[in-house]
Order: sequence, then C-alpha cells, then structure tokens
Amino acid sequence: MLIKTPKGWELPESKATPEGAYLNRRSILKGMAGAGLIASIGSNAAFGEAFAADNVDPSAGLYPVPRNDQYKVTRALTPEKIVTTYNNFYEFGSHKEIYEAAQALKIRPWTVKIDGMVEKEMEIDIDDLLAKLPLEERLYRHRCVEAWSMVVPWSGFPMKERVKLAAPTSGAKYVVMQTFEDKSVAPGQRQFWYPWPYTDGLTIEEATNDLTFMVPGLYGKPLPKQNGSPLRLAAPWKYGFKQVKSIVRFSFTDKRPVTFWEKLIKNEYGFWANINPEVSHPRWSQAKERDIGTGEKIPTLLYNGYGEYVADIYKDMKGERLFM
Ligand code: MTE
Repeated sequence: MLIKTPKGWELPESKATPEGAYLNRRSILKGMAGAGLIASIGSNAAFGEAFAADNVDPSAGLYPVPRNDQYKVTRALTPEKIVTTYNNFYEFGSHKEIYEAAQALKIRPWTVKIDGMVEKEMEIDIDDLLAKLPLEERLYRHRCVEAWSMVVPWSGFPMKERVKLAAPTSGAKYVVMQTFEDKSVAPGQRQFWYPWPYTDGLTIEEATNDLTFMVPGLYGKPLPKQNGSPLRLAAPWKYGFKQVKSIVRFSFTDKRPVTFWEKLIKNEYGFWANINPEVSHPRWSQAKERDIGTGEKIPTLLYNGYGEYVADIYKDMKGERLFM
C-alpha cells in the first residue's frame, strides 16, 4: 500500500455527495413504510430487487438508530462529506476519490454466505439479516495504516451477535471475511496483480470482543457504497485495512488466513495489524496521525486508545508481529 497524500479534505463542494439525495430517499422510504407498501412486498430479497433499478437502499427505513454512549470519543466528529469522499476501496481505484466509481456497485439483491466450521452453512439475504439484529450507533476512531484518521458514527450491531447466529463449531479459531468479486462493476479487480477478492480475518476472540462492530450504516443512514455498503467491519483498534468492505462471505476456520495485503507485501502488512505508535511501518513512522477532518497532526494511541477493551487478548502472545 503506497502512501499517497491526495488532499481529500480539499475537494470542491460540487464533488461532494449531495445530502439532499439521501434525505429524499429516506423520506420516500419512510412514506412508503407508513402507507404499508413495504410490508406488502413480501420477502426482503424481492424488495431489494424491486429497488435495485432506481438505486434506493431498502434498509433506509431502519435509520437513524439510537446511539450507544458507552463509546465516547473526545475528538470532533469528522464531517460526513469528508468521510464519504476520502476512501480506500481498491476495487474502484488505488486513490482516495473513488466515491463516484463505487456507485456502480449493485447492493441489492445481496446475500451473505456463512460457511466452513459452522453447525449449518447458510446464505442469508442482507435485509433479512438486518431485520434480525437491533442496530445502534457508535462513535469510533478510524485510523488508517497510512497515518490519517477520522472520527466516524457507524451504525451497526456487535459482531459477536453475528458469530452467535453462525454457530461456529468448537474447533473454529478464525473468521475470514471476503468482499464481493465482480469485474464488470469493479475496475480494480481487472488488475490481476492484486489477490482478489479482498479478504481479511479476525480470531474468534477478536470477533466476539465488545468493540467489534458490523456496519451497515453511517451518519444515521445506510452505508454509502464507497464506505463498504451493504455491510463492512469496524474493529477500531486495528489499522483500517482490516476493516473489510462490502462483505459477501464469512468463513469459519482453524487456519489463520493469509490476507489480501499480507499476500501482496508480507514484510509490511501482517495478520494482526494492531495500532501502536511505537512500531513504525517499514517505510514511515506511526507515532502521529493526521486527522482528516481538522487537518491536525495528533499523537497516535496504543490500540488506537481502545486498550481497555482489547489489550488482554494479546498479553500472552509471544513471537507474533502484533503491530503490523
Ligand atoms: N475493503 C475492500 N474490500 N477493499 C479495500 O480496498 N481498503 C481498506 C478497508 N477495507 C479496502 C477495504 C483500507 S486500506 C481502509 S483504510 C479502509 O477500508 C477505509 O475505509 P473508509 O474508506 O470507509 O475510510
């Protein structure tokens, strides 16, 4: 992963996602729900298909969701326009301004597969999955290995609820997450030197930690495509590249996966990728980070400030490259 410094925060107003478009979609959906139209359409999968044509997200009626105040952040929330126009999503380009290209992604119908070491393999429609789990909002710090960061209001559900639904067998040690694969919409996937599909993973202990969050929403609305719609991971004590976007598959296994970035550049990116200001990337320091919202350079915190939740997981791990 190269460090590029395109100034995403300097994007002209005209290039930013229009708020009005979102608000309009929400009011249409809320109106439909009120008129009983959503209920009469039947299965959520059919509902998704019906709306694919005009690109309205069928989960819009679920938002906004209540905030869980347990997760406090002392820094300012990053403006929505920045979070949704300064992205890493290599499927749509290896630069930060992929938000327009990402609109080609078709997010309905969308099914998520659960397989591997589970009691029963299954495929579940995303809207059926979202209907099963209550959503909440959490403010999380989000720190990229490239030394930029944001403060983001994700909406989602604890990943441990997802793991419970999957019922992994006792031998499962890891959960591997995989992004969609479709060269017809994702030009980056035609670049054969990348090991598609984008894949990353967590140990079961990490996946069931209170902090680990599955994210279908952002700023009280469905997650924009460029941020990984319809479902992504947020594990905020780890560098951003662990936070797999647009997930189609969760596989449970007893073998540690070799992840996308590890396959590409093994000596720079590993499996654990826990944030630590004292462990430099081979090509740059991780001591500080640039807050993309304020432009300020601030000190990076061990585990991104989330040590009280996660430090215990790693206390007895010797000989592991925990911080890259
Ligand atoms: N997921 C997929 N499928 N493809 C990607 O290129 N980039 C990762 C991660 N998830 C990436 C991905 C990286 S490097 C970062 S920093 C975060 O997504 C960025 O998330 P954001 O664009 O919402 O800030």
